Amino acid sequence: HKKLKPFPPHFLWGAASAAYQVEGAWDVDGKGVSNWDKFVRIPGKTFKGTTGDVAVDHYHRYKEDIQLMAEMGMKAYRFSVAWTRIFPSGRGEINEKGIEFYEHLINDLKAKGIEPILTLYHWDLPQALQDEYGGWESREIISDFTRYSVELFKRFGDRVKYWVSLNEQNIFTMLGYRLGAHPPGVMDDKLFYQVNHHANLANASVIKEFRKYVPDGKIGPSFAYSPAYARTSNPKDIIAAENAEELNSHWWMDIYAWGRYPKAVWNYIESNGLAPQIEEGDFELLSQGTPDFMGVNYYQTTTYEENPLNNGAGIAKINTTGEKGTSEDTGIPGVFKTVENPHLERTDWDWNIDPLGLRIALRRITNRYNLPILISENGLGAFDKLEKDDVVNDNYRIDYIRTHIEAMQEAISDGVDVLGYCVWSFTDLLSWLNGFQKRYGFVYVNQHEEGEHDLRRVKKKSFDWYKKVIASNGTVL
Ligand code: BG6
Repeated sequence: HKKLKPFPPHFLWGAASAAYQVEGAWDVDGKGVSNWDKFVRIPGKTFKGTTGDVAVDHYHRYKEDIQLMAEMGMKAYRFSVAWTRIFPSGRGEINEKGIEFYEHLINDLKAKGIEPILTLYHWDLPQALQDEYGGWESREIISDFTRYSVELFKRFGDRVKYWVSLNEQNIFTMLGYRLGAHPPGVMDDKLFYQVNHHANLANASVIKEFRKYVPDGKIGPSFAYSPAYARTSNPKDIIAAENAEELNSHWWMDIYAWGRYPKAVWNYIESNGLAPQIEEGDFELLSQGTPDFMGVNYYQTTTYEENPLNNGAGIAKINTTGEKGTSEDTGIPGVFKTVENPHLERTDWDWNIDPLGLRIALRRITNRYNLPILISENGLGAFDKLEKDDVVNDNYRIDYIRTHIEAMQEAISDGVDVLGYCVWSFTDLLSWLNGFQKRYGFVYVNQHEEGEHDLRRVKKKSFDWYKKVIASNGTVL
């Protein structure tokens, strides 16, 4: 049995959230309307039409939430800033009330010894920019996103040392421009690649600026990485898995780390007439805006097999009803096809549970990019039950997180440089399409689609467990 390396002394044991999913107060103190504020009002888009208008009311209860974080001994808290609180219409006048909210939040975290990790963009785009020029569809987004980000660097760069640029670019563009399940609800493969090119440029641009304003800070994107497995040792399945790894992961991470697109994928999308328009200087900017770390949001692996050319299966299907779903096979004819992995158990929402997949993910990223890694999300969405006397026995969540921490420690022992581990999430929050029934938190929030919901906070069993993990720096699991 191999000897495990201990977690580093200043390891960032944390948890993560996103503005739209926790804050609520959607039109308070001068906040502008975001694409999500608008999208959730379209009938049929979210589970039972649930919105983030109130979410878990973190905007008004952040002090109580931070108090609970302090009680847990949390070392880091990853949150996102709502762009529309700072610039209500995306650019122009600054809304000082918005700055003030994050100022208080950050100061309160620091006072409790909790390291703030600030995400610049977690999907809530100012609707004004979507209306004006299509948001990410236009190159104009690059300067607007940079202006907004620089404002935050100037205001908070003295206190905030860890920054996440874009959260899951691969997911918000996939759901927004390919599957049509997130705003702006478009299904257009060519536009999808163009939008991604603009997001890549915007990402590089803010990282480049960051160096001037926060020279002692660290910044990186958070990528939703789902390592690809081949279903069998049949070389046809192996190449399918390789295709998936390149198309679904390297396409983004290569640009982040090196400022270039992977060859095989570029050739594939170009020959299918999907390549984005590149302008002079783009690659120069991309290679100048490379990150300090790779942020990784890890939930599951995906298994692939050969997909014959004449198989009509579309690019992907998604369950947007928010109900407990059945996973459907998806894919691209001639490229790959997803299949169920018979070796893995699944969550209430049919996501694969694969702790070893985290070790594989961390090693693959280290081998290819040789960057430190921040695990910016990992966690379990489940139907939690509030029992008598305010008890939530979420043993399944403890098992999930424990096994993933073990896998992370194995990876550290393999030589991977992991900066921290942020569990998704600290309190229960709004799941974009699944309402409040899909819960992730250490803290239960009494918030529901219907019925009694006083928003009170209740510590789950996992709260006390994670507290001990942190206090022992990962030796007591
Ligand atoms: C990530 C996002 O994709 O996964 C989070 O960054 C999201 O914002 C989380 O909530 C879990 O997804 P879901 O669909 O289960 O809420």
